[in-house]
Order: sequence, then structure tokens, then C-alpha cells
Amino acid sequence: MLLGVNIDHVATLRNARGGVEPDPVKAAAVCEHNGAASITTHLREDRRHIKDRDVYTLTNTLTTKLNLEMAMAEDIQKIALQIRPYSICLVPEKRQEITTEGGLDVAGQVDKVIEFIKPLLDAGIIVSLFIDPVKEQVEASKKTGAQFIEMHTGAYAEAFGKENEEAEFQKLKQAAELAQQIGLKVNAGHGLNYENVHRMHEIEGLVELNIGHSIISRAVFTGLPEAVSKMAELIK
Ligand code: PXP
Repeated sequence: MLLGVNIDHVATLRNARGGVEPDPVKAAAVCEHNGAASITTHLREDRRHIKDRDVYTLTNTLTTKLNLEMAMAEDIQKIALQIRPYSICLVPEKRQEITTEGGLDVAGQVDKVIEFIKPLLDAGIIVSLFIDPVKEQVEASKKTGAQFIEMHTGAYAEAFGKENEEAEFQKLKQAAELAQQIGLKVNAGHGLNYENVHRMHEIEGLVELNIGHSIISRAVFTGLPEAVSKMAELIK
């Protein structure tokens, strides 16, 4: 499994004072040097953390891969087509939410997703759909032509160490199996941390885990190089 580091929280901290530090672009380079196989960032419609300029700079400075998280919004699609990241991950987005709260409802809007991702696929950008680990969402994702799904691991993370951990974990395992059977590649992420990440090894064939909050939180105490290399070691 590979580690993708989400650097959005670095931008949140920077924006708290409206200045230039800490610089998410510099953080991305540190992540790359310490075991990240890709850098994920979410250009939100309200630009609350990462700004357009960050994304343009990352495009020119990254030595690994840029995975751009985005909602189904035309202006963000335009930027994606301009910068051509290695991959995009389509996520639902609500203005009031603190973080991406649930998976994208692909099953309820297959045609809309097909239409939205077509220009991105035509441009050679890999498309991933961030979905809950549910059969109908996995099957609908296949219909869209996207190559990847990213399974939302939030419910598993929330249940970790509690009675319903096994049930939530099995949903991920079964969804990953189904996805691979029908020809989708599978990533996972959201809420994964240094304690709960180990069970991802029990799911065969996962390509990449996208992790942000726990890594940036640990970095406050240990520094970013240690936080990233420790997570990279855990998921290798
Ligand atoms: N994957 C997706 C699609 C996300 O939206 C997020 C959160 O921005 C993550 C992964 C990373 O989640 P966390 O910050 O909880 O590790």
C-alpha cells in the first residue's frame, strides 16, 4: 500500500494568520522526502484552506503525484483541466461541513457523474470517486468509467475499538472485494490514524491510503518528517 498525504490542514494553519507560513507547498516537499507517494489536496469551492495559487505551485514543484480532491463544480473542473493533476478524487461538498462528511452519492446521479468526469478522463486524468462502502455505490461507480474508488473509512475509524468495529470493517472489506471483481482499483481514506490503520492490511489489493488529520496532528509534537515516515512505515 502507498501513502498519500493530505496537506490541507497546513493551509488551514497558514490562513489562521493570513500570512505565508506554514507553507503547504513546502510541507508537501517534506512529505515526499519522507515516504509519501502522492500529495492530496482539496480545492474547496469556498477556498477555506488550499488556494488556487497553492495548487498551481504544487503542479510545478511536486516530484510525486498530485491527487486533487474536488466537488462537481465547473470552476474547479476548469482548473483541473488546466493543471492536469495525476488524479482527481470527486467528493461531495457542503459549505457548512467541517470536513467531507459522507461519500458521494454516485448511484443517485450516474449520468451527471459520467458527464462531469468525461472531459477529465479525456484529458488523461485518472478519476477516483469517494464513496461509502456500499454495494450500490460501488456498482454505480463502475458504470461511470472512473478507474478508482476511494472508500470512505470514516465510519470504521469512528467505530474502531468499539462494538461495531467489525461490522464497519467488513463493509470496507466487502466493498473492496466487489470493486476489484468488477474492475475498479481501490483507495481508502478519512479518519485513519496510527492506531486504526493497521487493519487496512487485511483488505487485499488496496492501492493507496489518503491520510491528513492524524499526520498533521502528530507533526505538531514530533515534526512532519517523523509523522510522515512513521505512517509510511505502518502502511508499507
Ligand atoms: N480522503 C478524502 C476524500 C477526504 O476528503 C479526506 C479529508 O479531507 C481524506 C481522505 C483525509 O481524511 P483525514 O484528514 O481524516 O485523514
